[in-house]
Amino acid sequence: MNDHTLTRSNAAAEKHDEDARLVIKGLGREFRTKSAVTQAVSDIDLSISRGEFITLVGRSGCGKTTLLRMLGGLLSPTSGSIVVDDRQLWNGDRVDSSALAKLGFVFQESNLFPWFSVLDNIALPLKLRGVGKSARRARATELAELVGLGGFEQSYPRELSGGMRQRAAIARALSTEPDLLLMDEPFGALDALTREKMNIELQRIVLATKSTVVFVTHDIPEAVFLADRVVHMTPRPGRIEQIVPINFSKPRDVELQTETEFNEVVRDLRRELEKGD
Ligand SMILES: Nc1ncnc2c1ncn2[C@@H]1O[C@H](COP(=O)(O)OP(=O)(O)OP(=O)(O)O)[C@@H](O)[C@H]1O
Ligand SMILES: [Mg+2]
Repeated sequence: MNDHTLTRSNAAAEKHDEDARLVIKGLGREFRTKSAVTQAVSDIDLSISRGEFITLVGRSGCGKTTLLRMLGGLLSPTSGSIVVDDRQLWNGDRVDSSALAKLGFVFQESNLFPWFSVLDNIALPLKLRGVGKSARRARATELAELVGLGGFEQSYPRELSGGMRQRAAIARALSTEPDLLLMDEPFGALDALTREKMNIELQRIVLATKSTVVFVTHDIPEAVFLADRVVHMTPRPGRIEQIVPINFSKPRDVELQTETEFNEVVRDLRRELEKGD
């Protein structure tokens, strides 16, 4: 068995908790409507270490966004617990927002403010934190450049393509140098080359800031390329099916994606994902 062999969840999931940034235990969420009860997520146990990069994969409807929203303080669990740096994130329906002070969130849709320019959108979290105008404009300009939006700082979201809007949203999430980054299919709308560039940039930023990341993607090579562990979820109810440790050294180069070993990991994971079909 080599390092990249797929493993059933238990051993890899039960990583020691000492350096855990996030400890998720027995986490579940059900949705009740007049006609139905949907168990969107059930029995999630996962400890995420500081600085770890987790990618979440699984077919549409398996609960990835629901899990991310609970981690991000946007949706309360109906069972189980989330501990962030030794603090309970949820107390019933109430969220301890101080536990999320250093959170950055990138959603499936970019969620920019239409009446703000790209620069002002990126700078907004800094403004809310009381950073002075010149400092936040300088930082926002740097970030716009980083995500390939140099020259578009004064444009409005409606003047941008979907991929450009998403890149602005990523820059906004990075503006406060979050140490916990929750990303829900952030690169889904990007063309392949831009996506590749964003993967490299994201890796660089995350390694530099030692951020902990939970990143949802439908792209298996992307999931493997970015991850320390790939968490594979299955639907009805949304559960963790397996956890795959990815041991290629970091920083990783795009060339890794042409290597046999990398492609074997991708192929094995794809097979596992197809099992549910
Ligand atoms: N607000 C809600 N009310 C009722 N059901 C919901 C709600 N949000 C999600 N669900 C249900 O929970 C399940 C999981 O949804 P979720 O959006 O978490 O899936 P996902 O894995 O993110 O899917 P995708 O890959 O398509 O984004 C689905 O069956 C969905 O219908
Ligand atoms: Mg989703």
